[in-house]
Amino acid sequence: MRKKNCLVLFGSPHKNGFTARVLEKIIGKSKNKVNFLSINAYEQKIHPCIDCKSCNEEITCRYDDFIILKDLLEKSDLIIIASPIYNMGFPSPLKSILDRMQPYFMSKFIRKENVLKKKKAILILTFGSKFNITLDIKRQLEIIFASINTTIIGQIFLENTDKHKVIDKNIEKKIENLAKNFFTV
Ligand SMILES: Cc1cc2nc3c(=O)[nH]c(=O)nc-3n(C[C@H](O)[C@H](O)[C@H](O)COP(=O)(O)O)c2cc1C
Repeated sequence: MRKKNCLVLFGSPHKNGFTARVLEKIIGKSKNKVNFLSINAYEQKIHPCIDCKSCNEEITCRYDDFIILKDLLEKSDLIIIASPIYNMGFPSPLKSILDRMQPYFMSKFIRKENVLKKKKAILILTFGSKFNITLDIKRQLEIIFASINTTIIGQIFLENTDKHKVIDKNIEKKIENLAKNFFTV
């Protein structure tokens, strides 16, 4: 059977920060079973969308770096978004990547063409405060994920990272269960 391809969109500037640690726990045991295709938003430096309208008629973009994204989106069966929350949203390099999915919005909602295969996703968010501030982010993702034919089937929120520096046992258990289900769907 073909190995599944999982696109990982990593939104933290820290390679060993909270987000990276949760992500590693999710993908760690599945590295041999799944092909992980990653974009590190801070390293890849994807150009922001400038609403130039070149994607109005077809899946294309005036900036060549779209090819990277297009190729990964076409290949992937699964998506993981792993990011800290910055001022109630995604850090700007990751937001740029999500905005560059606009050609798929045009395709699905304006031209009514569904060009990408169905994908399942999990959302990992870490944030400093102890209040659940994830709702706005989930709303942002609704339209973007609908455009790329993707459904969120699980989520891990690591809150209060300003204060708690360790991943507690409850979250560990949740991560383990989620990983088990996600990579076998
Ligand atoms: C510019 C900036 C904005 C932030 N905004 C928020 C915020 O709105 N709410 C919050 O709870 N934490 C906020 N944080 C804290 C981060 O989300 C938190 O430290 C996160 O766990 C860092 O993850 P990392 O170690 O993977 O980079 C912010 C941090 C930075 C640097």
